[in-house]
Amino acid sequence: MQDKVVVVVGATGGIGSALTHKLAQEGASLVLAARNSSRLAVLVSELPITQAEQVLSVPTDITNPAQVETLMSKAISQFGKIDVLVNAAGAAVMKQYNKIEPADLDAMLDLNLKGSFYTAQAAAEVMKEKKAGHICNIVGILGKHSMVMASAYCASKFGVVGFSKCMAEELKRYGIKFTLFYFGGVDSPFWDSANLKVDRSKMLTPETAANAILFALKADPQAVPMEINIQPESHLFF
Ligand SMILES: NC(=O)c1ccc[n+]([C@@H]2O[C@H](COP(=O)([O-])OP(=O)(O)OC[C@H]3O[C@@H](n4cnc5c(N)ncnc54)[C@H](OP(=O)(O)O)[C@@H]3O)[C@@H](O)[C@H]2O)c1
Repeated sequence: MQDKVVVVVGATGGIGSALTHKLAQEGASLVLAARNSSRLAVLVSELPITQAEQVLSVPTDITNPAQVETLMSKAISQFGKIDVLVNAAGAAVMKQYNKIEPADLDAMLDLNLKGSFYTAQAAAEVMKEKKAGHICNIVGILGKHSMVMASAYCASKFGVVGFSKCMAEELKRYGIKFTLFYFGGVDSPFWDSANLKVDRSKMLTPETAANAILFALKADPQAVPMEINIQPESHLFF
């Protein structure tokens, strides 16, 4: 990954930070985004890097398209290209359908659906110029299967699958690949505020998720890992 420039959105999250550590070890140049600048600074301070120029952190709220544009411009100013975008920002509102307020639905659609749409759209515009790129959207299994209490979350995640497949068709002639990741439960801060009883000890680890993303990024050039589905043994979906 030494010649790659990777933008990780949601870099301070469970999955994002596990991936960021692995990419830093592999020598990738990193552009790290999330809203909280102090958490970004802590992440950068913990990375196994030898040169400070290898990492750029850009506090970004991806629900704001202007901030997403700024993120991509800063990446280009520092590194001159973007090879990979990993969309690992997201959150969950888990409530019964009739308890979901308009603000809950807006929050899910603004962050999970529109935020990842804006980032994919902006990164693709940059990648098109080089006729190469890889966009990884961390959808989750609830972009494919249903669950009680998850109607707003599923609405946002099924939407991510829809736009990703359309963009992938439009962008294949520019050499831009999409990979969709359908992870089951991953033990991360994502669950801290979720109003659900879950057994986090049986979930996947963020390292498992990060290894799967790295696998897709290292696939042979002619190979497109279109979808990767990994579930914890205790909770399989067929
Ligand atoms: N954990 C699971 O069980 C699981 C399973 C399948 C799929 N997923 C999906 O995987 C992705 C990552 O999940 P995770 O478990 O790593 O979650 P997490 O630990 O809660 O991390 C979420 C990340 O998103 C960032 N973020 C939140 N709102 C943002 C915004 N408006 N703009 C930019 N960044 C924002 C957070 O940083 P700031 O708060 O500082 O912005 C944080 O870095 C999500 O899309 C989630 O839906 C999770």
